[in-house]
This record gives sequence, structure tokens and C-alpha cells, in this order.
Amino acid sequence: MSVIFPKWTNALPTLLAVVVAGGATTAVGGFWYYATPKFYDVGYQPLQPGGGFNHQIHAGKLGMDCRYCHSNVEKSYEANIPSVSVCYGCHAEGRLTQFTDSPVHVEKTAFIRDAYARDESIPWRRVHKLADYVHNFPHQVHVAAGVSCYSCHGQIAGMPVVHQVQPLSMSWCLDCHANPGDALVPKDRVTDLIWVEKHLADRAAGSAEATNIGKALLESLERTPPDNCGACHY
Ligand code: HEC
Ligand code: HEC
Ligand code: HEC
Ligand code: HEC
Ligand code: HEC
Repeated sequence: MSVIFPKWTNALPTLLAVVVAGGATTAVGGFWYYATPKFYDVGYQPLQPGGGFNHQIHAGKLGMDCRYCHSNVEKSYEANIPSVSVCYGCHAEGRLTQFTDSPVHVEKTAFIRDAYARDESIPWRRVHKLADYVHNFPHQVHVAAGVSCYSCHGQIAGMPVVHQVQPLSMSWCLDCHANPGDALVPKDRVTDLIWVEKHLADRAAGSAEATNIGKALLESLERTPPDNCGACHY
């Protein structure tokens, strides 16, 4: 009897808490499933410092691994944004100019050296953000299960400036949790977004090889993704 009002209900609207206590969880879940706006934030692209960090150049053309900069994504709930010293490692005075001495390049990257010299961080604006009442979104669990950044963030390696591709709504989470097989890729490919895009397209088009890889990954998935309210809302 002690868990009629578990702690997580505090964070949800009072109305919901009342209905949950009344035992109508499924009906409410069903209502929100269809009522949550699907494409609310799709396309969101805030104005960024220095015209935006270019993933197409760094992750695409130069082939840098996502984890070089987002180094916590496999270890923690939150993926991190790199500090200016990571950029400075390549963009320090005279370092990159050994390879590119184009004045345009020097000018475009000046904001990095300025921020570094003033010991300030670059004020990147956040693109993807869940509402505060979603208490549990673990990046590391998804990455370890073989869900690629591609499935949730789109083809980042082709983006001159990052924008939001998926709605990040509750129905979006639950759609994949009900049918994760379509999204799973081999663990060592999770950050290889070019490979993943092609592989998942092959699978969707019915390629036997890609379909078999998907089936095997689904069978080896140790836990079923949750659909109980408490898993994400506490
Ligand atoms: C050289 C460093 C670097 C590399 C490599 C890199 N990123 Fe980023 N990433 C950044 C910086 C800086 C930002 C913040 C600026 C922005 O949001 O555009 C960022 C932002 C993002 C965001 C948006 C964060 C938000 O605010 O919601 C996503 C998603 C992302 N990166 C995914 C990736 C993926 C996937 C890869 C690999 C394909 C990758 N990044 C490789 C530096 C990097
Ligand atoms: C591993 C080395 C490396 C790191 C780390 C790195 N860059 Fe770069 N960056 C490059 C190279 C190489 C180029 C030039 C690529 C080209 O012009 O083809 C470049 C180009 C740029 C440009 C010019 C883009 C344009 O449109 O011409 C900007 C701005 C930039 N980087 C910002 C950043 C920021 C911000 C970070 C940190 C989040 C960062 N870089 C981290 C290697 C790096
Ligand atoms: C299952 C979906 C999913 C996967 C897979 C995923 N992300 Fe995310 N990512 C999200 C969501 C949702 C958010 C917003 C989280 C929040 O607001 O708490 C986010 C936020 C981010 C941010 C912004 C963090 C910040 O503090 O500004 C970065 C950077 C990022 N993801 C990078 C990555 C990278 C790199 C990968 C692949 C290695 C990846 N993500 C895989 C869903 C995902
Ligand atoms: C593209 C597929 C996909 C999407 C989208 C997705 N997930 Fe998941 N999620 C998974 C898979 C697969 C697992 C099972 C991982 C495991 O336990 O091995 C999982 C597990 C979880 C877990 C359980 C973690 C644990 O420790 O057992 C939580 C919580 C979760 N997801 C929250 C979310 C939230 C919140 C969203 C939406 C913002 C979301 N997920 C979107 C695929 C997805
Ligand atoms: C897999 C994770 C997950 C599960 C399980 C889950 N939710 Fe959600 N819920 C979310 C996300 C993500 C959002 C949207 C957050 C946003 O818009 O930023 C959300 C939004 C909501 C909202 C606010 C809707 C709105 O439009 O503002 C309510 C109420 C809610 N959930 C109740 C529930 C109930 C009741 C259940 C159980 C039947 C449940 N949730 C199960 C992830 C989940």
C-alpha cells in the first residue's frame, strides 16, 4: 500500500496523478500517445556562435569519430559538448595554418582562439531538450544496446549546422521501444553514421542480409525497452 503515490508522480500534472491513482493509467497513456504533437520541434536550429559548428566538415569530410568530442556518450546519461580546449587542440595559432593558410579559414576560426585566450567557453545553444518531467533518458544504455546516433539525431555527418530531425515526443520513444529491431545496428557501427544510414535503408527496402543482421541483434538484446510510465518519468 505504500506505493500508491510513488515519488515520480510529483513531477507530473496533478490531473495525471489523480487519474493514475484511480487506476486508469493505460487510458491516459493511450491518450497522451496520440495527443502528443509529433513534429513539434522538428527542424529546430538555433543561431550558433561562429555561424555554427560544422559537423559536415569535421565528422563527414575529416571523418572524426563522434566520441572524440562527445566523449561521455557511452559512459553517462548525458552526452557532453566539448570544451574549447578540444577545438584549440587543432585550431591553436599556427597549428592548422600549417595545412590551410587561407585567410578565410583563419578568420572563421578566430572565435576559438579568442575564447581560449579569455578562458571562456563558447556559448553553444542547446538543440535537443526533453521536458524536465522526463527524468530518465540514458544515452549510454541506448548506445550500448546498438541504437545509433543516426536514429535519434539524423545524418549529423552531413549537417553544416545541427538541427533537430526527430520529434523527441513520447510516442516517438514508445514507437521504437515497441519495435526496436528496425533500429539496432552492430555496436561497433553506432557512430559510423554514413554506414548506418545505408544499412538501415537496405533493411527497410527488404535486403535479406541487412534484415538478418537486424533479427540477430534483436534476439541478442538482453532487456526489453520499457513502456511503463515510471521508467521515464519516475
Ligand atoms: C570536433 C568536435 C565534434 C565532433 C567530432 C562531433 N561533434 Fe557533435 N557537436 C560538437 C559541438 C561543438 C556541438 C555544439 C554546437 C551545435 O549544437 O551545433 C555539437 C553538437 C551536437 C549535437 C546537438 C547537441 C544539442 O545541443 O542538442 C548532436 C546531436 C551532435 N553534436 C552529434 C554528433 C554526432 C552524432 C557526431 C558524430 C557523427 C558528432 N556530433 C561529432 C562537436 C563535435
Ligand atoms: C582534429 C582536429 C580538429 C579539431 C579537434 C577541430 N577542428 Fe575545426 N577544423 C579542422 C580542420 C582540418 C578544418 C579545415 C577543414 C577544411 O577546410 O576542409 C577545420 C575547420 C573549422 C572551421 C572552418 C569551417 C569552414 O566553414 O571553413 C571552423 C569554424 C572550425 N573548424 C571550428 C571548430 C570548433 C568549434 C571545434 C571544437 C568544437 C573544432 N573546429 C575542432 C580540424 C579540427
Ligand atoms: C535513443 C535516442 C538517442 C540516441 C541513440 C542518441 N541520442 Fe543524443 N540525445 C537524445 C535526446 C532525447 C537528447 C536530449 C536529452 C535531454 O534533454 O535530456 C539528446 C541530446 C544529445 C546532445 C546534447 C547534450 C547537451 O548537453 O547539450 C548531444 C551532444 C548528443 N545527444 C549526442 C549524441 C551522440 C554523439 C550519439 C551517438 C553516439 C547520440 N546522441 C545518441 C537522443 C538520442
Ligand atoms: C530508436 C529506438 C529508440 C528510441 C527512439 C528510444 N529508445 Fe529508449 N531504448 C531503446 C532500446 C533498444 C532500449 C533497451 C536497451 C537495453 O536495455 O539493452 C531502450 C531502453 C530505454 C530505457 C531503459 C534503460 C535501462 O536502464 O534499462 C529508458 C529509460 C529509455 N529507453 C528511455 C527512452 C526515452 C525517454 C526515449 C525518448 C526520448 C527513448 N528511450 C527513445 C531504444 C530506443
Ligand atoms: C520511453 C519513455 C516514456 C514512457 C515509458 C512514458 N513516457 Fe510520458 N513522456 C515521455 C516523453 C519523451 C514525453 C515528451 C517530453 C517532451 O515533450 O519534451 C512525455 C510526455 C508525457 C506527458 C506530457 C504530455 C504533453 O503533451 O505535454 C504526460 C502526461 C506523460 N508523458 C505521461 C505518461 C504516462 C501516464 C505513461 C505511462 C502510460 C508514460 N508517460 C510513459 C516519455 C515516456
